[in-house]
Amino acid sequence: MSNTFGKSFCITSFGESHGHMIGVVISGCPAGLEISPEEIQAELDRRKPGGPSSTTRREDDSLQIISGITGNRTTGAPITLAVTSHDIDSSAYAKISSIPRPGHADYCARIKYGGFSDQRGGGRFSGRITAGFVMAGAIAKKLLSKSGICIAAHTTELGRIQAPNATWEEIITTSRPNELSCANEAAASNMIEAINKARNKGDSLGGIIEVWATGIPVGLGEPVFDTLDGELAKAFFAVPGVKGVEFGAGFASSRLNGSQNNDAIIVRDGEISFSSNNAGGVLGGISNGMPLIARVAIKPTPSIGIPQDSVDLNTMQPVRLEIKGRHDVCILPRAVVVIESMTAVTLVDFAIRAQIIPGVIK
Ligand SMILES: Cc1cc2nc3c(=O)[nH]c(=O)nc-3n(C[C@H](O)[C@H](O)[C@H](O)COP(=O)(O)O)c2cc1C
Repeated sequence: MSNTFGKSFCITSFGESHGHMIGVVISGCPAGLEISPEEIQAELDRRKPGGPSSTTRREDDSLQIISGITGNRTTGAPITLAVTSHDIDSSAYAKISSIPRPGHADYCARIKYGGFSDQRGGGRFSGRITAGFVMAGAIAKKLLSKSGICIAAHTTELGRIQAPNATWEEIITTSRPNELSCANEAAASNMIEAINKARNKGDSLGGIIEVWATGIPVGLGEPVFDTLDGELAKAFFAVPGVKGVEFGAGFASSRLNGSQNNDAIIVRDGEISFSSNNAGGVLGGISNGMPLIARVAIKPTPSIGIPQDSVDLNTMQPVRLEIKGRHDVCILPRAVVVIESMTAVTLVDFAIRAQIIPGVIK
């Protein structure tokens, strides 16, 4: 398994869904960064279940700082952050342990790890591992804010309901108050209705999260194999349920002419800028000074109440599988902060490599 991401700000993810703890070890974080437990906890709270779309599992996700932060300052040593798992009920998984869930990683994991992987609650493939990503993201966001880089994500589509395009101001002012982090209130209430309908049918929904990062200087990204967009895509695909990533005009750019897709180079307030942002802030794998804009497609939650076809791997007999566990109807509301976090850990890694962030923060 590869559980480590980043070269200078390096995060190692650990834990399994129904194990004792889930967390992250961060090495390479500059010393002296002021960060309180409350700041990290506030980000964890954004990922917790609780809204209409989420599981009835109680995930307290109470932060434990195990190393690397004393007196609310990072020490320069590895930072270990964890949450303990309390509300564990593995009984639903015990009954179906030999029956892989369609759409989940059960079958692949069982074959790859010879049946030894912890399957309870999805084990290593559970959305719960993203608690570690969020704790690392809280530190990364704080570091980036010192250099004027801000990150915010919002839900642009859910259950085939599309929210209108939003500006940066709309994203940061209106998306946080509603549970779906959707910048348009009317779209948000339609999305909630769609979630309730799906829940009543025992079904699930997917959608699209858009993330923006502003204040990025020109020059982050290390072509050819550590491109900014390539590493971000890798970080996003570490989030369970992510099935597509695009930057700027993305797939739509393939249907444009060059004359439509190219962002004209202009002078704005005495600085080089671009008249549009079809590039999504990245050219040649390097940041171009425009806002980074990426969209991440998230599939419908695989564990659904509607009966599905599978096979009992012990008997090789077909089975009609009804999943009884507690599952999110839609992953998106809880994944918004996760996508922000993966954006932050990727950007901070490049910013440290480019020496935009120093080794000691004063
Ligand atoms: C925050 C979050 C919560 C999730 N909750 C569930 C869930 O309750 N039930 C489920 O089957 N999958 C859930 N998933 C998705 C699965 O973990 C994921 O679909 C599975 O590991 C297969 O990976 P893949 O979809 O990337 O191929 C969640 C993912 C995230 C990011």
